[in-house]
Amino acid sequence: MLKPTSVKEALHSEAARDEILVQGWVRTRREAKTFSFIELNDGSCLKNLQVIAPSTLGNYAAVQHLTTGASVSVKGKLVASQGAGQKWEVAAEEVNVIGTADATYPLQKKGHTPEFLREIAHLRPRSNLFGAVFRTRSKLAFAIHRFFQERGFVYVHTPIITGSDCEGAGELFRVTTLDVGNPPKREDGLVDDAKDFFARKTYLTVSGQLEAEAFACALGKVYTFGPTFRAENSNTSRHANEFWMIEPEVAFCDLAGDMDLAEEFVKYLIRDVRTNCAEDLELFSKFVDKELLKRLDFVLERPFQRVSYTEAVELLKKSGKTFEYPVEYGANLQSEHERYLTEEVFKCPTTVFNYPKEIKPFYMRLNDDEKTVTAMDVLVPGIGEIVGGSQREERLDVLEGNMRRHGLKPEDYSWYLDLRRYGTVPHAGFGLGFERMLMFVTGVPNIRDVIPFARTPGNAPPRSGGAV
Ligand code: 4AD
Ligand code: MG
Repeated sequence: MLKPTSVKEALHSEAARDEILVQGWVRTRREAKTFSFIELNDGSCLKNLQVIAPSTLGNYAAVQHLTTGASVSVKGKLVASQGAGQKWEVAAEEVNVIGTADATYPLQKKGHTPEFLREIAHLRPRSNLFGAVFRTRSKLAFAIHRFFQERGFVYVHTPIITGSDCEGAGELFRVTTLDVGNPPKREDGLVDDAKDFFARKTYLTVSGQLEAEAFACALGKVYTFGPTFRAENSNTSRHANEFWMIEPEVAFCDLAGDMDLAEEFVKYLIRDVRTNCAEDLELFSKFVDKELLKRLDFVLERPFQRVSYTEAVELLKKSGKTFEYPVEYGANLQSEHERYLTEEVFKCPTTVFNYPKEIKPFYMRLNDDEKTVTAMDVLVPGIGEIVGGSQREERLDVLEGNMRRHGLKPEDYSWYLDLRRYGTVPHAGFGLGFERMLMFVTGVPNIRDVIPFARTPGNAPPRSGGAV
């Protein structure tokens, strides 16, 4: 049995071949006098493979009816192409029509808007742009594992269903098997959560950090890479309700070490995609963002700028620019502020550190000034925050104090406090938003277009076959 060859392998072939089997979807078909040109794409790469189907084929009538979107399996010879633009083509000896597609196939040749393509999320990976996005997504995921594995980090699978709100922002999706219309009630009339599946309130995780800390305090250097969920009603181009996050956590590491790791990591990923996704990046730089390659190379060449939150607020105030949200010490930096810092002030990725304790979660280490915590956010041009992290509070009494200040009961986090009770160590980590990183390396401006089936407010299945 002849094994199928991918279009990518065929196009990179060293020599002609007497026998080849290729399978894929018809992008276009053109008819000449004694044959048809079929442009075949199988998703293995951006480029199509040209197939020459001669009119002498037994089923040539069926070949003549092939339209965009149909699936075929082609046997023949791989021969040097006469035409410009490609080295190899297939001289078909057999063209099997596997599945036809009619004129209602939505991906006809002309360009479509991202909005239209979002409505057909199940078909859009067949377009050039989305094929490229999702191949890059796969390569980027692999590079993430490679980066950490090369450095001796252990991959930890943290739970998806959890009882704690790591970020304390109350943006949790509840997980319950109770009948929401008619839940069991306690004597005082409130819902009896003890009757729920896990005998308590549970949620989809917003972050694997707390569990990753437990593993870092045993295995030294760990990372998680998995889906996280946030019920935030932010209808922006950078927020999704289901997104993937990478969270390294390192024992015996402080804030400076954490910032170094984040910078090394982000640069490694850019370098990797630059090398391993060159063809797809060409497409992005042609059709999505003309400045992309220049920007990525520029980022690789320069150290990230570092600035404290206090200095950042000063710079923003001095800028003379009117922002939609006023700049105040003690307030969260808004996306417009973050972008101004990285795009206008520093013109390169910028790490802001030491934020006021009031605006950051309970687990961050209190600085000696007792006003700020060892938080750090990496901001990049075009997006704003891409990484959020910190050194963790390793002192038991201070951590308990932080919890109370945040309205949390230390008793509810007793396992987490054990990490401070038994052999506590300074440790630090961060979270990189996978989709935001993918937006950065592809130049794709909307997070909905780098997620196979995006989940955003008001949009979940079963619209358009699970789309949007
Ligand atoms: O800054 P965040 O909320 O940090 C944490 O969750 C920490 N527990 C991470 C840690 O220290 N281990 O989120 C981290 C990153 C953000 O910088 C952003 O890139 C991404 O996750 N992110 C989102 N991406 C897409 N959609 C959303 N709604 C996101 N919220 C955060
Ligand atoms: Mg953050």
